[in-house]
Amino acid sequence: MKKIFFLLLTVTIIQFAQKKTFEQRADSVLALMNLEEKVGQLIQYSDGYATGGSTVGPKENMEELTRKGGVGSFFNVIGVKAIKKLQKVAVEESRLKIPLIFGLDVIHGYRAIFPVPLAEASSWNPSLVEKSARWQAIEAASAGLQWTFNPMVDIARDPRWGRIMEGSGEDPYLGSQMSAARVRGYQGKDLSANTNILACVKHYAAYGGAEGGRDYNTVDLSERNFRDYYLPPYKAAVDAGVGSLMASFNEIGGVPSSASKFLMTQILRNEWKSDAFVVSDWNSIGELIPHGVAKNLKQAAELGINATVDMDMQASAYYMHLAELVKEGKVNIKLVDDAVRRVLIAKFKLGLFDSPYKYLDEEREKKNVMSKDIVNVTKEVALETLVLLKNEKNVLPLKKDIKKLAVIGELANSNDDVLGGWAAQGRKEDGVSILEGIKNKIGMNTKINFVEGCKVLGEDKSGFEKAVEAVENADAAIVVIGENRSMTGEASSRASIDIPGVQEELAIQLIKTGKPVVIVLMNGRPLSFPNLQKNASAILETWFAGIQAGNAVADVLFGDFNPNGKLPVTFPRSVGQVPIYYNHKNTGRPHNPGDHYTSYYMDFDNTPLYPFGYGLSYTTFEYSAPVLSKTQIKKDESLKISFSVKNTGSVEGSEVAQLYIRDLVGSVTRPVKELKDFAKISLKPGELKNIEFTITPEKLKFYDINMNYIVEPGDFKVFVGTNSVDVKEARFSVVE
Ligand code: NOJ
Repeated sequence: MKKIFFLLLTVTIIQFAQKKTFEQRADSVLALMNLEEKVGQLIQYSDGYATGGSTVGPKENMEELTRKGGVGSFFNVIGVKAIKKLQKVAVEESRLKIPLIFGLDVIHGYRAIFPVPLAEASSWNPSLVEKSARWQAIEAASAGLQWTFNPMVDIARDPRWGRIMEGSGEDPYLGSQMSAARVRGYQGKDLSANTNILACVKHYAAYGGAEGGRDYNTVDLSERNFRDYYLPPYKAAVDAGVGSLMASFNEIGGVPSSASKFLMTQILRNEWKSDAFVVSDWNSIGELIPHGVAKNLKQAAELGINATVDMDMQASAYYMHLAELVKEGKVNIKLVDDAVRRVLIAKFKLGLFDSPYKYLDEEREKKNVMSKDIVNVTKEVALETLVLLKNEKNVLPLKKDIKKLAVIGELANSNDDVLGGWAAQGRKEDGVSILEGIKNKIGMNTKINFVEGCKVLGEDKSGFEKAVEAVENADAAIVVIGENRSMTGEASSRASIDIPGVQEELAIQLIKTGKPVVIVLMNGRPLSFPNLQKNASAILETWFAGIQAGNAVADVLFGDFNPNGKLPVTFPRSVGQVPIYYNHKNTGRPHNPGDHYTSYYMDFDNTPLYPFGYGLSYTTFEYSAPVLSKTQIKKDESLKISFSVKNTGSVEGSEVAQLYIRDLVGSVTRPVKELKDFAKISLKPGELKNIEFTITPEKLKFYDINMNYIVEPGDFKVFVGTNSVDVKEARFSVVE
C-alpha cells in the first residue's frame, strides 16, 4: 500500500513537472505536503564551514534532517561529491523527494577569482561584467552549485564600511547597470540549463547606509533618499529577473529588514510584482531579538514570515517555531504556502525536479574548475578594472628593456592578497603576485631587486634603509602598497581610510630619491592619501584584481594595455569628509570661497582627492561641446544629445564618456549632478567618434513633493565629459 502511494506520488510529481507551468507544478507539490514538510522548505543551513557567527543548529544531523524533509537548502557545502551525498538523501530517501538547492557566496568567482566587484564596476563595462558573472556561473555550476548569494548591490557612500568592496560604489545608475549585468550573467537566458545558477540580489535593503560605516549598523534614511538613490540597483535586478533576494541585517527607520513589511510586502511584492523568494541573511531573523523588536525566537519567526521573508538562513527560528505558530493560529498557513510556493518555483525553474543530479558531474567539475579558459577571462576582466590615477611626465608605461628595477612592498610579493575578500574557494597558489607578473613580463636583461621595505600593518621601519638603497641603485621603482585582503569585506570596517601602517611614509622616502617611482595601490575601498598624491608621479589603482592580478598589472605598467578604468566611487582627501559623493545636494549655502557663512570645512578642503568617474589613460581625449536635438521637450518626450570624442594622443585607448544631468528647480531639491548614461569607446590615435545619448522621460523622473515618481517641467542642465567634474554642458527645458 505504502509502496503504491509513493509510486503514485512520484508519477504525479513527474507528470506535473513535465506539463504545467511552474506555479501549477509548485501547487501540485504543495498539495501533497504536510505542515512540517512545508516548513522544511523554508529552512536553510550552512554545512561545512561557517560564514557568520555561532548559531544554534537543528537537533538532527544534516542527513537526518534532509531525510525527514526538514530542510530546503544548504550552503557552504563544497564540491560535487559532498553536494551529491545530501541531494541523494533528499531525492531518494525523503517522502516527497523534493530536491535541495545548494548555495554559496560566489561573489567574484568560485575558485578562479575575478577582481572584486568594486573593481569590476571600475570597468564601466556591463557586458564585461556580465561575461565575468557568466564564467563564474559556469565554474560554480560545475562544482555542483545552483545558487549564488550575489550580486551585492548596496550603494555605499562611506569607505569606512568594509563591504563597499563587494558592491559597485556610490551611484544608482552605474550600480543598476552592474546589478542587471550580473543577474543576466549568473542566470543566463534559461535557468534550467545546468550552466546557469540562481542569483540573489542583496542586501535588501540599504545595508550600505550603515551609521559611521560600522558593519551591521543602523540605517536611517528619508523615504525619498531611499527610493531615489538606494533602491534602484535592487529594482534593476528584479527587472532583470533575479530569482531571489537576501534580506539585510540593518534596520531602516526603526524596522529591521527581516521584519519589514514595507520592504518585502509593499515594495517587493506589491509595487514590483516580484515572485522571487527572499532568504534572510545569516541569523538575521534571530537578530530581531537584539534589534529589540522580538522578545524571543518564536516572535522573531512570526515577524519574519509575516514580512514574507521566505527562507530562514541559519537562525533555526522557522525550524523551532513556525509549525507551532501555524497550529496556534498566530501565523496564517497562507503565508507559509506562499513562501513554499516561491521556493518550489525556483527549484522548478532550475529544473531540479526534472533532473536533480544534472549539476552533479564530477568529470565536469574537474574539467571546468580553474580551466585555462576561465583563468584567461579573469585576466581579460582584470585589465579593464585598473584605474590610472596619476601619470606626470609620462612616467608610465615603463620600458621593457629597463636595466635595473626595484620592486618594493609586502603586497608586491603576495599571491594571496590579490584575491581580495569573499574569495570562495580561491587559493593563493592560483594567484599571480605583482612581482611575479612583472617577472613574467620583462626579459632576462632586467635585474629585479625585490625589497619588502615594511609590512602592510605595524610601525616597523627597519626595512626602510634597504628599500631606499634598492631604489637609489635602480632605474625605476614599483612600490606596491595598500590593504591586506582581510581588511575589506564583512566585519572589516575601518575608522581610518589612510594607507595602513608606515607604507605611505616609506613611499614618500622612496620618491625623495628622485628616481621614477610608480605607486601601485591594492585596496578594497577608497583610501585617502593627499600627501602621496601630491608627491608621486604615477599612481595606479589596482583594487584586488583576482588571480591574474600580477599579469594584468604588468601589462599596464609596461604598456601592453592602455588603462581605461574609471572610479565608481569618490576618493576623499580625509576620512573627515565622509560622506562625500558626487551626486550631493547644492544646499542653501553652497561653498563660496571667501564667504565665511557657506558650507565648508574651516580646516580642510571641500573637494575630493579624486572625483567619481575619474581615471586617466596613456592617451588623451578631447570632447566637443554637446549638441541637443531639441532644447524644449514635453514631459513624455525624449531628446538626443550628441558630441564627439577624439583621441588626441599617440596610442590607441578606450574612454568612458559620461552623461550627467541637473534638474535646476524642482518641487524638492535635486542633486548637483546625476549620472544618466555612459559609453565605453575605443579610439585609434587621431580617431574621432560621435556619441549620441537619448534622454528619455525615465531618466528625468524622481519622487516629487507628493512622492509621485514623475517628470517635472522645468530647466535642466546636461553635461558630458571624462569624469563627473571635467564636463561640457548644455541646457534644455521640459514643458507640460
Ligand atoms: C552574511 C553576509 O552578510 C551575506 O552577504 C552572506 O551571503 C551570508 N553571510 C552567507 O554567507
